[in-house]
Amino acid sequence: MGLLFTAMAGTVTIGHFPTAAAFRPLALPKLAAARSAHLFTDRHFRDALAQFATGVTVICARVPDGGYTGFTANSFNSVSLDPPLVLWSLKRSATNLPAFENAERYTINVLAHGQVELARRFSRPHVDRFAGVPFRMGSAGAPLIEGCVAWFECSHYARYSLGDHVLFIGEVETCERGSGAALLFHQHRYGITPPPERGSEPK
Ligand SMILES: Cc1cc2nc3c(=O)[nH]c(=O)nc-3n(C[C@H](O)[C@H](O)[C@H](O)COP(=O)(O)O)c2cc1C
Repeated sequence: MGLLFTAMAGTVTIGHFPTAAAFRPLALPKLAAARSAHLFTDRHFRDALAQFATGVTVICARVPDGGYTGFTANSFNSVSLDPPLVLWSLKRSATNLPAFENAERYTINVLAHGQVELARRFSRPHVDRFAGVPFRMGSAGAPLIEGCVAWFECSHYARYSLGDHVLFIGEVETCERGSGAALLFHQHRYGITPPPERGSEPK
């Protein structure tokens, strides 16, 4: 959860970008040194990250036995418009890591404000996370959950093992938007986006 800073720092150090030098802001070495010297606790780090409000997604893939796997993720973010790329990370200890590494395609479901129970179910042990969940199949062969505010179907573009997480970069093959308020996650709690003002235009 929330491993974006680690991921960005790791990406810089492995020089994935052709202009890696341009990605070395002055503050970065100091921050990296502080982290390696353990000047803050894991809790302190998590609490600082939790100040960054995010949406909540359920990322799904088909597994070899014909069923599906899925988990709640708030590490989702945009990367590039051309090509259309998104990112998310999964902890290396996750039981579903092999499934996502082996699946050619997967779906990212952006949860609506009324889907808190889905977020809880897909982040906790459950006999069958998909039981009773209404979904349809898209071209990625993985569930597109009904009632979400957006859906992305992706194929793997790149993957990096960074720290205790694996960073997935997905190339978006299809995307759709629904309507209504999205579910938020902030300060370790679920919330909802405030309703838009009448007549207001998207920024
Ligand atoms: C709001 C929220 C966001 C989360 N985001 C992530 C994430 O981005 N990456 C991750 O590895 N785990 C994340 N988790 C934890 C996983 O949902 C949880 O560990 C899940 O059980 C992993 O799947 P598994 O049980 O099949 O291993 C998040 C949990 C919550 C409640």
